[in-house]
Amino acid sequence: PPSPPPVSYAVTFKGIPASVGDQVTVPEGYTMDVLFAAGDAVVAGAAAYAGTPLDAAGYEQVAGGNHDGMHLYAIPGKDPNTNALLAINHEAPDSQILYTGAASYNPATATADQKKIVLSSVGVSVIEIERIDGKWTVKRNSAFNKRYTGNTVYQVGGPAATLVGPTVVGTLNNCASGSTPWGTYLTCEETTDNYLDPSQPEVGYGWVVEIDPQGTFPATKRTALGRFDHENTAYMLDADNTAAIYMGDDSTPGCVYKFVPSARYNPDDRAANRNLLDSGTLYAAKFNADGTGQWLELTQGRNGLVTGAQDPGNYTQSAVAPAPVTTNFATQADVLVNTKAAARVAGATLMDRPEWVTVGPDKKVYMTFTNNGPRVQTDAANPRPNNSHGHVLRWDEDGNTAKATTFKWEVFLLAGDPRLATANLKGNIVGDTFSSPDGIGIDPQGRLWVETDASTSASTTSTFGNNAMYHLDQVTRRSTRFLVGPNGCEITGLTYSPDLTTFFINIQHPTGTWPSNVQGNALPPRSATIVVRRSDGKPVGA
Ligand code: FEO
Ligand code: CA
Ligand code: CA
Ligand code: CA
Repeated sequence: PPSPPPVSYAVTFKGIPASVGDQVTVPEGYTMDVLFAAGDAVVAGAAAYAGTPLDAAGYEQVAGGNHDGMHLYAIPGKDPNTNALLAINHEAPDSQILYTGAASYNPATATADQKKIVLSSVGVSVIEIERIDGKWTVKRNSAFNKRYTGNTVYQVGGPAATLVGPTVVGTLNNCASGSTPWGTYLTCEETTDNYLDPSQPEVGYGWVVEIDPQGTFPATKRTALGRFDHENTAYMLDADNTAAIYMGDDSTPGCVYKFVPSARYNPDDRAANRNLLDSGTLYAAKFNADGTGQWLELTQGRNGLVTGAQDPGNYTQSAVAPAPVTTNFATQADVLVNTKAAARVAGATLMDRPEWVTVGPDKKVYMTFTNNGPRVQTDAANPRPNNSHGHVLRWDEDGNTAKATTFKWEVFLLAGDPRLATANLKGNIVGDTFSSPDGIGIDPQGRLWVETDASTSASTTSTFGNNAMYHLDQVTRRSTRFLVGPNGCEITGLTYSPDLTTFFINIQHPTGTWPSNVQGNALPPRSATIVVRRSDGKPVGA
């Protein structure tokens, strides 16, 4: 079937102006509550951080730091609009709530306890939440409440398990995330190196880790999806239940990927999908200048992935190409532990830091490319040298299917502001301008939302205000500012109650007095999940 034309999903809220300040600002008629901050209790019986540092065992049981990607899951037999599970990534420690000196953490000199504390602050929290008298709260002492940390042992699945080993200690840099049609959570490791604990083998990191929010199946690193600086995942589901997983490598520069499992998802048997992500085909994207694109198969023996392959390296940052590096791909495990090089050898396009990807109900795919200051060599999909403000691409899979090996793409928008002086900074956003798009998500009613992670320097905030969240019209490309975060933060993470009356959003690494200034306590600034609702109880944006 051909791809349908894009649809203009209107929003009814009145956009808010750019601003700085130590608060979360939402449009008139909307409310904001703080739900879950770094150090809040997770595991049943845990004591929350309340200003006095906990011990290592205590930190394993409370929320980690730098809340990032997240997803809401239904609990069997419960109404997910009032009682659900939230799986939330912790990208990095909120070191200001850890032991004294954590901000200057040095793994070479840290004590075993200090190392354990820092590693407890990354990973994932799973919390049960419920809406009582109209207000969402964390259900204390729920048996579902669980932490997955940098100290937890993870299973390893897929072809690279032969090189990685059957288990790995720790997950790290749990940046953004995605869900699967079979109800699991995919937390993405945005580093290929455990820099918090260099004693761990390097090939253990840089994977997508599958977590069952219901806690039934063991958390497993899915090596078939490749090893790189994973940002998030988003899936496209065909009518025959083939699910493609889209992914980006947030490297300067990095490639865009797709994984197509060899088996279809079984909607009637949850356990049958347990290891679906262990076998399939990994592809990297080539964006051609004429608006066509190809998915290049990253399979050993194809597309140059052989012993003695010549990796062209990062040729985008200098006028003179670097000398190629001989790289051996003798097995599929070699391809998967060295996926970035495999994509370059195959001829994939080096992109301006792929961040989030999202797939709409109409199967249109949008991806943010946050910025890439060092770029010298441009191409059609990365058209600006010294790309300070980033851009967004949109593509349609040929045949509108997850199994496509070709696609059509376009630059959806160039971020920046018309008031800025030079062509590479101006951008072409209609309406409220922004820099450095990062989080992006299409909600179940089709509305497209983008969140920013721009520099928080005065020179940037004087143009764009604090980091914020915007609605983007998919036809007019008009941007309308929906939410502005407190000083120093980035805005990330986006999930919803199924009826869309609640949006959950993450405020990451605030630096002022938020959220203590709304919670009425004297705690340091903390990353937190917030709840945004309309006062009239209708769906957000509608
Ligand atoms: Fe963790 Fe690329 O953002
Ligand atoms: Ca990000
Ligand atoms: Ca970012
Ligand atoms: Ca971040």
